[in-house]
Amino acid sequence: MTNKKVIAIYPGSFDPPTNGHLDLIQRGSRLFDELIVAVLRNPEKDPLFTVDERKSMLQEMVRQWDNVRVETFDGLLVEFARRVNASVVLRGIRAISDYEYELQMALMNRKLAANLDTLFMPSAEEYSYVSSRLVKDIARLGGDIRGMVPAMVVEHLQQKLRRPEAFKK
Ligand code: PNS
Repeated sequence: MTNKKVIAIYPGSFDPPTNGHLDLIQRGSRLFDELIVAVLRNPEKDPLFTVDERKSMLQEMVRQWDNVRVETFDGLLVEFARRVNASVVLRGIRAISDYEYELQMALMNRKLAANLDTLFMPSAEEYSYVSSRLVKDIARLGGDIRGMVPAMVVEHLQQKLRRPEAFKK
């Protein structure tokens, strides 16, 4: 046995963060010494929220856990993991349909960095149908998203809705 700290990263787009993400962060915070929520800066995607907006929403959401922090990254995930000394990538699996893509990414990441392992955690049942994409669609079409995202995210989505030019998609 060693006393080495286990540092995990929980990467994603988080556009916006949902209660499904929050549940995974909470469970991850119990499993690892440190958990870094890593928001991808991805210029290829056309996100609704800026990276800074997503980061600050997540920071608010994780404030209660001392061993969780939020960072942003671009480039390869394995490079970011190396920089922050992470040995684990945490990913949530909602349904078997997530598995194929997640397995491919996990194997590719392990090929690129042999000492980086991916841990799949099943989503909480009550959030297994929640995705950032559907939440955005429902909000845009005037549906009720309470309970799917934290109240603070509901407010941010409603603010965006008041400025329709920010809500093209
Ligand atoms: O929330 P998402 O959009 O499903 O997260 C996908 C993410 C950020 C985990 C993935 O796109 C990623 O790791 N991108 C960084 C670039 C990279 O390393 N790509 C190779 C992955 S095998």
